Amino acid sequence: MSLDVAALRAQFPVLNRTIDGKPLVYLDNAATTQKPQAVIDAIVDFYTQCNANVHRGAHHLSDEATRRYEKARDTVAAFIGAPHREEVIWTSGTTEAINLVANGAGQLLKAGDEVIVTEMEHHANLVTWQQACKRSGASLKVCPMFESGELDRDAFDALLSDNTRLVAFPHVSNALGTVNPIKLLTAKAKEKDALVLIDGAQGIAHGGVDVDDIGCDFYAFSGHKIFAPTGVGVLWGKKSVLETWPVWQTGGEMIQDVDYDHATWGALPNRLEAGTPNIAGVIGLGAAVQWLSQQDIPALQAHEKALLEYANEQAATMEGMKIVGTAKDKIGVMSFLLNGAHPADIGFILDKQGVAIRTGDNCAQPLMKRLGIPGTARASFSIYNTHEEIDQLFAALKKAKMMLA
Ligand code: ALA
Repeated sequence: MSLDVAALRAQFPVLNRTIDGKPLVYLDNAATTQKPQAVIDAIVDFYTQCNANVHRGAHHLSDEATRRYEKARDTVAAFIGAPHREEVIWTSGTTEAINLVANGAGQLLKAGDEVIVTEMEHHANLVTWQQACKRSGASLKVCPMFESGELDRDAFDALLSDNTRLVAFPHVSNALGTVNPIKLLTAKAKEKDALVLIDGAQGIAHGGVDVDDIGCDFYAFSGHKIFAPTGVGVLWGKKSVLETWPVWQTGGEMIQDVDYDHATWGALPNRLEAGTPNIAGVIGLGAAVQWLSQQDIPALQAHEKALLEYANEQAATMEGMKIVGTAKDKIGVMSFLLNGAHPADIGFILDKQGVAIRTGDNCAQPLMKRLGIPGTARASFSIYNTHEEIDQLFAALKKAKMMLA
C-alpha cells in the first residue's frame, strides 16, 4: 500500500506556511494536529448557514444545528466501536473527560480503596486521580515502568488487589510514544472487577480503537489530536456504568424535572452534558472523524511507522543524541536529548529553521523525575509528514549541535 502524501498534505492549508522565510516543518503533532480543509469548511459552514443553539429552539436553524450536532455523535460512536450512541459524552477534551470520571469516582471511592495509575502518566491522568484519592481517602498506587518506557507488567499484576476499584493508564504515552497493551491490562484489571479508564489522547489519532473490543469502562480523548478543533473531546463510557455515574456539572440540558427544592436528572448523554455545548467544535470533530474514516487507515499507519523508523535510523548516526523512550511498540513520538544541551535551546534554534517541536517536561513532571532528566526535546510525527521533513529536522539538529557545542 502506498500513500499519496503530497495529495494528503494539500488538504492541510497551514502546511503551506513559511516561518522566517523557511517552509514550515510541523513536528509537534502530539501537542496538536493540523486541520484539513474539510474540518475548516464544516465549522465555517455551521457559522455561515445554521448557527443556533441545539435541542432548544422551535425553529429551523436550531433543528438543523441539532441534526449536524447529533450526526457527529453517530460518526464518533461508529469510529470507536461504541455499542450505543448515548455512550459518547461531549467534553472540552481529554482532561475534562478524566475529571468527569474522577469527580464521580471521588464520590464512590472510600478509605481502603485503591486506584492504580502508571509512572508514564500525563498530568491529566495523574493529578486528577491523585486529588480524587486525597478527597476520598483512597490510596493511589503507581505502576512502575522499565527504562525503555515499557510498563512492568509483573508489577502491574502485583499491584492489583481485591481493593483495586479503578485502574487508569494511557493508551499511548505522550512523552515516550509507548503503546501500552491496553486490552491485556484491561483484562487483568477486570479479573479484580476494577473499573478501567484509558487516556486515549495520543492513541485515538493512530486508528483502530474499538472500545467494545478493549473491554474498558471509559475511553477519553481530545478532538484536537485527531485533526478536529481544540476545546472539544469525548468521554466514551459503558452505558451500564454511565447510567449510574454521579452527575458533576448541573444546569440546563441535563435535568428532567426541577423545582425550587429538588431536581432530577435526564437520560444519557444529556445528564452528563450540562449547559450549551461547543456546537461548532462537535461538528468539526464529526467532520474530522468522517474525513479520517474515508482515508486508507492501514496505509496511514504504515506511513507513520516508516517515518519513525527513518527518524530512528538518522538518530542512530547522530553522535550525542539520546532517544528517551525506546519501547518496542511505539508510535511516532521521538523525545530526545542532545549532548546535554537544554531542550529549550534546541527548540529555539530549530524554530529559526522552520522546524516546530515541543520542549520541556511534556506535562509529565513525575515521569521526567523518574528518568532523572529535566525534560526533553520532542518531535512527533503525523500522517502528513514526509521523509524530507525528517531530513530537515536532522539538518536543523546538526546546526543546533554546532551552535550549542
Ligand atoms: N499533552 C500534549 C502534549 O503532549 C499537550 O504535548
